[in-house]
Amino acid sequence: MKTFATLALPFLAFLLTFFPQSGESAYTRGYASSSTTAERSRQGSVLHSFDKEKGYEVVIKLEDAFGEVGEDLKLIKDLAADMRVVKALLEDVSQDVKELRQLGPDTENLIEGSNTDRRVSQHSFSSGRNRTPPYRPQWEVSLPKLNCAELRLSGQKRSGVYSIQPDRTQATFETYCDMTTDGGGWTVIQRRGVLNVPKAVRENFYRTWKEYENGFGSVRSDYWLGLDKIFMLTQDCSHELIVNVTGWDNTSKFARYGRFNISGKQDSYRLAIANYTGNAGDGLLQHNKMRFSTYDKQNDQNGDENCAELYRGAWWYKDCFWSNLNGEYSDDGANGVMPTRSGMEWSSRHFYSYMKTEMKIRPKC
Ligand SMILES: *[C@@H]1O[C@H](CO)[C@@H](O)[C@H](O)[C@H]1NC(C)=O
Ligand SMILES: *[C@@H]1O[C@H](CO)[C@@H](O)[C@H](O)[C@H]1NC(C)=O
Ligand SMILES: *[C@@H]1O[C@H](CO)[C@@H](O)[C@H](O)[C@H]1NC(C)=O
Ligand SMILES: *[C@@H]1O[C@H](CO)[C@@H](O)[C@H](O)[C@H]1NC(C)=O
Repeated sequence: MKTFATLALPFLAFLLTFFPQSGESAYTRGYASSSTTAERSRQGSVLHSFDKEKGYEVVIKLEDAFGEVGEDLKLIKDLAADMRVVKALLEDVSQDVKELRQLGPDTENLIEGSNTDRRVSQHSFSSGRNRTPPYRPQWEVSLPKLNCAELRLSGQKRSGVYSIQPDRTQATFETYCDMTTDGGGWTVIQRRGVLNVPKAVRENFYRTWKEYENGFGSVRSDYWLGLDKIFMLTQDCSHELIVNVTGWDNTSKFARYGRFNISGKQDSYRLAIANYTGNAGDGLLQHNKMRFSTYDKQNDQNGDENCAELYRGAWWYKDCFWSNLNGEYSDDGANGVMPTRSGMEWSSRHFYSYMKTEMKIRPKC
């Protein structure tokens, strides 16, 4: 009896403090955990009577208390079951919200407080999401991003290679993303001179129509993204274009266009640019509204003479060019000086092939 008392006494005190009135329901008891003076004196008398070996009375109270603990356990179990039901309901609701969102951007405003995605866009550019069909908005986190701008807005801060899917009906592909220039989010469509390697092992840019359509090279160094992909990116959304050129003295210049897009395959990827700013010169002005040409597909306005073949490149040639960024890479040691105009020329700097070039685009819609 002595041992039992030693063990049971503190437990009993605890029980009586927190579950003082056996008649009360478990719910109301929860709100009345602070005991009144009367209760405390009653507890005191219980303990006092135990001291006076009125063990029988205590044991009865103890049994009552244990009975109530059992009831409480049952209540907790019921509560857990309720929580599972609530969770399932919430999941249903969230599924409904998801389906509503998939109906289109217009219904989005109907869903109160659903604009969490937009909160990150403190930048001056958008992700290109506000598109008209055939673009269908997708809200699954697991889907690949449309472009580098969407990746940037989703929190990616490092320039590098990413997978994107500008057209949900087409396969994903890799591209290099510039995440630092002017807030980042730039999808690089052309890049040359990245690695300091000899001309002999450089990516060859004198290529066929098919290759310029599909793209070639390595997104980890020199590449052309591909006319098909550039069209996919720009087909239903106005874009900006930055052209960065770096000379052999390591000085950089740029040309920036407030608007850039190209048309589709059936129109030979015709160029549309507007609103030049920069210090490199407007190297695309003459090429505006021209179709793309390669040595095996002449779409230029140069009569019998094929600009792509003459200047060993592929471009939106007219008769022939103010820029030729897919032209020949300069010989090592020549510091960019070329005997012909077939180099990576830009604007008024003739017979000079730049050391590095980059063309990158970002949606404005
Ligand atoms: C592309 O640019 C041209 C000329 O500015 C414009 O007429 C056309 O609507 C643009 N296309 C898209 C999809 O923005
Ligand atoms: C590319 O051009 C942009 C101008 O829009 C400039 O901010 C950026 O620093 C340039 N990048 C390089 C590598 O010169
Ligand atoms: C240009 O920069 C590279 C490395 O950034 C350096 O190796 C090279 O010597 C520089 N060239 C000139 C002409 O300053
Ligand atoms: C060019 O920029 C001006 C002023 O920023 C603007 O009003 C105009 O609409 C722009 N043009 C195009 C074709 O984007």
